[in-house]
Amino acid sequence: SAGAGDAMRAEIGVIGGSGFYSFLDNVTELQVDTPYGAPSDSLFVGELAGRRVAFLPRHGRGHHLPPHRINYRANLWALRSVGVRQVLGPCAVGGLRPEFGPGTLLVPDQLVDRTKTRTQTYFDGVPLPDGSIPNVVHVSLADPYCPVGRGAALKAARGREWEPVDGGTLVVIEGPRFSTRAESVWHAAQGWSVVGMTGHPEAVLARELELCYTSLTLVTDLDAGAESGEGVSHEEVLQVFAANVDRLRAVLFDAVAGLPAEDERDCSCAGALGGMEPGIRLP
Ligand code: ADE
Repeated sequence: SAGAGDAMRAEIGVIGGSGFYSFLDNVTELQVDTPYGAPSDSLFVGELAGRRVAFLPRHGRGHHLPPHRINYRANLWALRSVGVRQVLGPCAVGGLRPEFGPGTLLVPDQLVDRTKTRTQTYFDGVPLPDGSIPNVVHVSLADPYCPVGRGAALKAARGREWEPVDGGTLVVIEGPRFSTRAESVWHAAQGWSVVGMTGHPEAVLARELELCYTSLTLVTDLDAGAESGEGVSHEEVLQVFAANVDRLRAVLFDAVAGLPAEDERDCSCAGALGGMEPGIRLP
């Protein structure tokens, strides 16, 4: 069990919606600053399934940050700075195929970036406040998600009798608007599975910090092109998310429990920078 000095440390991070605060025991609220500015909110650090977990509300408490205003760099940096090395990132998405209707849980294995304004690197040549200057780094993202984390998520869902879709492509749009019908039809025609607004650059930045990152997407609606009706409304998204939040919390709990211990991480995520010299000290 955790000693006093551990109250501010965690090994696993969860970046998610506000429905998840209450799931940690013995929570400490930590305000963390980073060289990239402030994260979306405080970190809520505590215990879950016998593991040390840091929870970060992606959109801030009260959901005030739209996807394009989220400081993704600060969020991942803050998590790493308290010790986090594995991250679970649940998010709401639209389904791009009729069979991926509301309530589908899809654990993607691929990512397409259709955002327009987001800084997706720590290594952009701008000096940090401490004067250190990052080197140019080109991280591999061929497989953007941790295979071990994906396995833990899939197993957790099956254990809760929520048959997940194993794999598929998450396309991330800039938002905050939803897609036009033409955009949506086009995304589906590419063979992409689900559409969201926050999966990029979260996964990319996690990889640059050598964190394991697993995306768990909850379909809240059929996107405009996959549906004959009216298209998506924000209300519909919130309502379906609320209806699934209990079982999503249960899956996250079991996924956390199923992640490897820190010294048993043997995927390639931890060595993502390989021989590349970052020029900055990762927290
Ligand atoms: N998040 C939830 N539903 C979505 C949709 N249809 N498009 C983009 N992001 C979403």
